[in-house]
Amino acid sequence: MRIALLSRNPKLHSTARIVEAARARGHEIDVIDPIACVLTISRFTHRMFARGREIHGHDVVIPRIGASITDYGLAVLTHFERAGVPSVNSTLAISRSRDKLRALQYLSAHDVGIPRTALARTPESVRSAVDAVGGTPVIMKLLQGTQGVGVMKADTPEGVESIIDTLWGLGQNIILQEFIAESRGRDLRAIVVGGELVAAMRRTAKKGEFRSNLHRGGAGKRAELLPAYARAAIDAARIMGLGVAGVDILESKDGPRVIEVNSSPGLRGVERATGIDVAQRIVAHAERLVARR
Ligand SMILES: Nc1ncnc2c1ncn2[C@@H]1O[C@H](COP(=O)(O)OP(=O)(O)O)[C@@H](O)[C@H]1O
Ligand SMILES: [Mg+2]
Repeated sequence: MRIALLSRNPKLHSTARIVEAARARGHEIDVIDPIACVLTISRFTHRMFARGREIHGHDVVIPRIGASITDYGLAVLTHFERAGVPSVNSTLAISRSRDKLRALQYLSAHDVGIPRTALARTPESVRSAVDAVGGTPVIMKLLQGTQGVGVMKADTPEGVESIIDTLWGLGQNIILQEFIAESRGRDLRAIVVGGELVAAMRRTAKKGEFRSNLHRGGAGKRAELLPAYARAAIDAARIMGLGVAGVDILESKDGPRVIEVNSSPGLRGVERATGIDVAQRIVAHAERLVARR
């Protein structure tokens, strides 16, 4: 089959891994940079070009849309959807998961553990929002951060106020979240593909850091998930509607707490930590979508 892989750069590790896996399984695969695409839309027609050539004839799309190009990337993915090409992750699911607050709103309607979370936007409401999540220390997050950037911890109400003033001043909304202290700088990253848990690692933050992201110096090690954790990961991916998902879960004293669901999870760290060929699983899932049609 012919796969369209949406990605800024074929040299990115995860992109290169998916290309390799697709070729190994006998497929043709084109890496398409969404930014290089020109969309033309008129009554009943929509066409797409890259470097002067029309893009068509793909059987399935694997989108890897970075946070910096969400809108443009989703417009390109919408083009494929309108042309009837299935995608491992839909535009709707990606846009749901990209915003941490929106994602938690979805999850909170189902039986999945999440940390208490609050949104506030006036100085008078900050104290009650902090109380609602259990007081300080409190985690503060930009709605659309990734790789640990935009996740902060405030130890006092004064700390919360000064951070929040700064961010509001910059026009940023921010969520307040219960600090799961017992996770002690560790979390689980579970990769769910096609409703199955395919790999999981426990990430441990570097010394003096509470964020366990590998991009923040965290270290990943293969993990066997307890059934409640595997369930939470699979449920979270299903609720978000993602065929490929990286689910971040904190280990709280009361069980799993899902903090976010990533639609383009990085492959390098998890493949290294677990030895599992996640790229191959993603391509196999794309094959199933095509076969199902
Ligand atoms: N409520 C929390 N309590 C304790 N640690 C947290 C909490 N939320 C996030 N963290 C830590 O910060 C990291 C980044 O948070 P996350 O919500 O996954 O944002 P990002 O999109 O930047 O990865 C997590 O992997 C975890 O280690
Ligand atoms: Mg994360």
